[in-house]
Amino acid sequence: MTSIKQAYPIITIDGPSGAGKGTIAWKLANALGYQLLDSGALYRIVGLKAHQANLLNDEINENALEKLTQSLKIEFIANQETGTIDILVNDEQIGATIRNETVGGYASQVAVFPKVRQALLDLQRDMAYRSGVIADGRDMGTVVFPNAVAKVFLTASAKARADRRVGQLKESGQPADYDEILANIKARDERDENRSASPSVPAEDALVLDSSVMDIEAVYQAVKTHCLNQGISFS
Ligand code: DC
Repeated sequence: MTSIKQAYPIITIDGPSGAGKGTIAWKLANALGYQLLDSGALYRIVGLKAHQANLLNDEINENALEKLTQSLKIEFIANQETGTIDILVNDEQIGATIRNETVGGYASQVAVFPKVRQALLDLQRDMAYRSGVIADGRDMGTVVFPNAVAKVFLTASAKARADRRVGQLKESGQPADYDEILANIKARDERDENRSASPSVPAEDALVLDSSVMDIEAVYQAVKTHCLNQGISFS
């Protein structure tokens, strides 16, 4: 395992989309005063930009994707007014466009390429030199921050995740086709778990939690207990 010097504590939360990683990461970041690293947003940005540049065709050119990734200036800025994080790409704010399922699919497509992953590595590690970090993704505990203080792999059945996604969409007044959502989730899991570059698997020293039948508070308490056991103090 590579030894990476880390100036501040890092907690990693890995696992598939819809398992509740984002909510748990957000709650932990608030409780501890750490910054949040949403690594999925990075892959979503590269996926969206690659789509816009017509790079996601039948024969994807890895070198062109690498060049595109290296050309992007991506910044996460805490917005004190809204209490959320603004993401700037080449000095322009990127909105909710990156959050939809289509862009999730583009992200999963570009994420199979080692050169894209390598190009995003330093950006992710640099954040950990500035403050404590809660890192949310697929390979945070295995590849990006192998020396993290506490690691969690949060999962849930594909059906439970599809149910949650349908609930969220309906709540926000958007159309939701359960079968299509379930099929998308399964396709993305298949690609993320079986790629050869940094597949989505639990780190050996991660706490693995299945949230299929747990509510978010129960998940948070289990994660918090794990962090306390690893020596993180919540004041
Ligand atoms: O967590 P998310 O749904 O925003 O991630 C979108 C896609 O990006 C996901 O399907 C796989 C990829 N990804 C990755 O390969 N490695 C990460 N650390 C985070 C996301």
